[in-house]
Amino acid sequence: MKITFLGHASFLLEIDGTKIIVDPFISPNELAHEIDVDALEADYIFVTHAHQDHIVDVESIAKRTGAKVVSNFEIVSHYEKKGISGHPMNHGGSWEFNFGKVTYTNAVHSSAFPDGSYGGNPGGFVIEAEHKNIYIAGDTALTYDMKLIPLKVNLDVAILPIGDNFTMGVDDAIIASDFIDCSKIIGCHFDTFGYIKINKEQAIKQFFEKGKDLMLLDIGTAIEF
Ligand code: NI
Ligand code: MN
Repeated sequence: MKITFLGHASFLLEIDGTKIIVDPFISPNELAHEIDVDALEADYIFVTHAHQDHIVDVESIAKRTGAKVVSNFEIVSHYEKKGISGHPMNHGGSWEFNFGKVTYTNAVHSSAFPDGSYGGNPGGFVIEAEHKNIYIAGDTALTYDMKLIPLKVNLDVAILPIGDNFTMGVDDAIIASDFIDCSKIIGCHFDTFGYIKINKEQAIKQFFEKGKDLMLLDIGTAIEF
């Protein structure tokens, strides 16, 4: 599994030749100007919730590539009305895709579209693939529901928000990594705008002091598991 950071909470996952883009917010992100959104390939677009900073580029990528949107029922319905195909899910449900098994998990957050229309309930994803398992938390507070994940899945890596204000901050993300029993964490949802600027070195140090590895990828760089 190859994971490329596309800025903010956007990632490209490559699993056995299948390309999954998560929460594309690339074209308006000044920090991600080196990413050419029109050159990205995708088979699937995973959308954790309907907020602007997670969906801005969904429509253009889906229409250009034919990628399927995987999200909650309401978000998938929203895109189906625009002629984009998708796979609707809801909390606690799993589906076997060709690249692995996906479960839509709970997130404590909100999920309205930018125009105020209903975006269902926010979530995250657990992907069990090619003997590597990943949890993408989405925008969320620290929640006890995270403890349910390791009852069924041994995680190799997790993508957690760490920017505070709108989501967990670093302290809670460290507790989350205990709840999910995973010490390899890729941080996201930091630095993109004023409310979520963090001290990255300090964050890495805080994780390190708890025996955990916080990876803060430069935008456009990748890590393989
Ligand atoms: Ni959000
Ligand atoms: Mn967000």
